[in-house]
Amino acid sequence: MDEQLIEAALAVRDKAYAPYSHFLVGAALRTKNGCLFTGVNVENASYGLTICAERAAIFQAVAAGEREFSSMAIAVDAPLPAAPCGACRQVMAEFGFEEIILCTTDKQVKTFSLADLLPEAFVKENLPGGDRNEKNK
Ligand code: THU
Repeated sequence: MDEQLIEAALAVRDKAYAPYSHFLVGAALRTKNGCLFTGVNVENASYGLTICAERAAIFQAVAAGEREFSSMAIAVDAPLPAAPCGACRQVMAEFGFEEIILCTTDKQVKTFSLADLLPEAFVKENLPGGDRNEKNK
């Protein structure tokens, strides 16, 4: 279990901008080469523009040049761990995540594979050109 990833997700959660839902979410991902990136949910007065913590972390990592990810920890302050929304699962599938670790501020931890959370994902291989859609080829 990647304890450092869990601690990073819990720590960054405090930075979430959630003045409407008051539901603060922290996410931390591990790249295949061992780097760590974090993200938080950022809400907006125009509610639909909200971005989830998971996608914020992925976009941050992609902007830093990373594209190969292995795991993500997602932290919430709730009675039970919260699984990522469908949109975030689809974005995770784009980048080949394997392990998704859900945790709460009172240290409940639950782990899933992305394949459990999003079976039969729609991926680049489903598009015409298949593999050639990868990595700005
Ligand atoms: N949220 C996330 O950040 N990740 C999820 O997977 C589910 C929901 C955020 C979006 C919104 O700011 C708040 O939680 C309530 O839905």
